[in-house]
Formats: sequence, C-alpha cells, structure tokens
Amino acid sequence: MQSEISRQEIVDGLCAAQASIAPKYLYDDLGSRLFELITHIPEYYPPRIELALMTRHADEIRAAAGTGGALIDLGAGNCRKARALFPTLRPRRYVAVDISAEFLDRALASMHAAFPEIGMFAVGADLSAPVALPAVLDGMRRVFFFAGSSIGNLQPQGALALLKRIRLQCAGRGGLLIGVDLVKDEAALHAAYNDDLGLTAAFNRNVLNHVNALLHSDFRLSDWRHRAIYDARLSRIEMHLDAVRDLAVAWPGGRRRFAAGESIHTENSYKYRLEDFTAMMAQAGFRDIRAWTDERAWFAVCYGGA
Ligand code: AVI
Repeated sequence: MQSEISRQEIVDGLCAAQASIAPKYLYDDLGSRLFELITHIPEYYPPRIELALMTRHADEIRAAAGTGGALIDLGAGNCRKARALFPTLRPRRYVAVDISAEFLDRALASMHAAFPEIGMFAVGADLSAPVALPAVLDGMRRVFFFAGSSIGNLQPQGALALLKRIRLQCAGRGGLLIGVDLVKDEAALHAAYNDDLGLTAAFNRNVLNHVNALLHSDFRLSDWRHRAIYDARLSRIEMHLDAVRDLAVAWPGGRRRFAAGESIHTENSYKYRLEDFTAMMAQAGFRDIRAWTDERAWFAVCYGGA
C-alpha cells in the first residue's frame, strides 16, 4: 500500500523548480524486470565485471568474509548475484531485501527450491532507514551484500550514512561485501546508460507509468525522451526525462506545466575513485578493507569487516 507521504513526496518533486522523481520509483514490477534486462546488455558492463571479480577472487573473499553466517542481500532484485556467492560463503540464512516485494517473492521461491538447506527470508524495504531484520538472525554473524554499485544511486552523504547503518547492524561481527562502479572514460559511461536497444530509455520512461498508478496523474510516455549525461565534475551519470513539447501534467489536486526541453531528473549514478570509496568505508567504521578490481579498473568489489 502506498502512503500519503509517498504521494506528497512525488508531488513535491514534480513541483520543484528542477522537477525530480526519486529513483526508487523506477522499480515497480515492470521497472524491476526492465532493470534485470539491462543487466544483460553488452554496454552495461557492471554486472559482468562484478561477477567475474567475485568468481576470480572467491577464495580471498571467503577468507575475508568467512562462511556459515547470515547473508543479507540489500537490493536483491532477482537474487542472482547472491546465488552466485552461495558456494563461496555457504550461508546458513539468506535475507533478501528489496523495494519491489512482489518481484522478490518470485525470485526467492525458485532460490528456495534450489537451496532447501538455507533458511530464506524476504524483506520488502527501501534502504533509507535501518532494515528490520528477522529475529532468527539475532546473535548470528552477518555479512551484508550490496551489489551492482547501487550505492552509487545515493548522494555521497547518504551513501556514508547507509554504510554507517550497515556497520552498526553487523553488531561488531561480519562485514560488508560491496560492488562499486569506478570513474572511467566518459564514452564507456555514456554508452552504458544510452544503450542501442533503448532498454535504459524504457526503464527510465516507465517511471511515469509507476507515478501515474500512484498519483493518478496523466503523464503520456510519448511526450518524454530519455537523456543520460555524465557530469565529470560531480563524477555522476544523471538520468533525465525531457519534455518533447510544451505540455501540462495533472493529478487530483495539482498540475504542472513543462516547457519543451524542460526535464524531470530521475536518477544519479555516482562513480567513485577507489581510494575515495575505501576511505568512505573506513570513515563508516569498517576495518581491514580489501578491494579487487578488473584490469581496466572499471569496477571494484570491496570487503570491510565490522
Ligand atoms: C541499480 N543501479 C546501480 C543502476 C545504475 O547503474 O545506477 C540503475 C541503472 N540506471 C540506468 N541503468 C541502470
């Protein structure tokens, strides 16, 4: 059920001078499916490099993170990335946390059939507050897993706050295994967010379907064009939807005009320098930080102990 607060948050974003929609609204059921497709396209390199790093360095990851505890997968999606980690970390419990609970339930059902010995739990939550973990995890060693550089979708201050919350939830044991996208050549970044198939464009424009469902607004998708640009000063990709003509959008109790070319900002995806990211982990209180990168240093997998 969607709360008043969420509707107000959407209205406030739409009415701001630079209109915006929070990126969490990209992930309705269709949005989660579209993102899952994005992870397969050639231009979108993060999932492939991350998986290769976790495979290549499985022994070192196991030595750092340990085995047999609880694996808590933040932003689990289809749970495929965590599944690839099971042979490495051999968790006794697996907790999948995602904003799209419907999508998660389906993914977890097939996981449970494949790994009946692992206790599995689904938690529908966004990560803006501490995640309420199931009581069966009390006293267990906890390894949090935050894959795919989802940390990059937060403002750096919010990212630091989330890292601190995670460290507290490790309760002095366990740690955090996290994937982070690194600063690189602008052409590669541009291609990753402007793929030739148009899947990223569909993913971005679908946010308007979701907002229409939540707000009963009358966005027409054909009025909006996907735009993703790299801001090198801020080290981030920005996704926008640009109005293709002068238009107005209405919802019960409100309305906003957009001039042709005016945009709605839908997502930031920050890219980090590895040393800045590990420094942020240290600032959040993590210790014995390890980092593994590919030969081009496009992506890193990091582990920090609590
Ligand atoms: C989920 N997140 C890490 C993706 C990213 O790269 O920022 C979302 C995404 N947006 C466009 N393509 C993928």
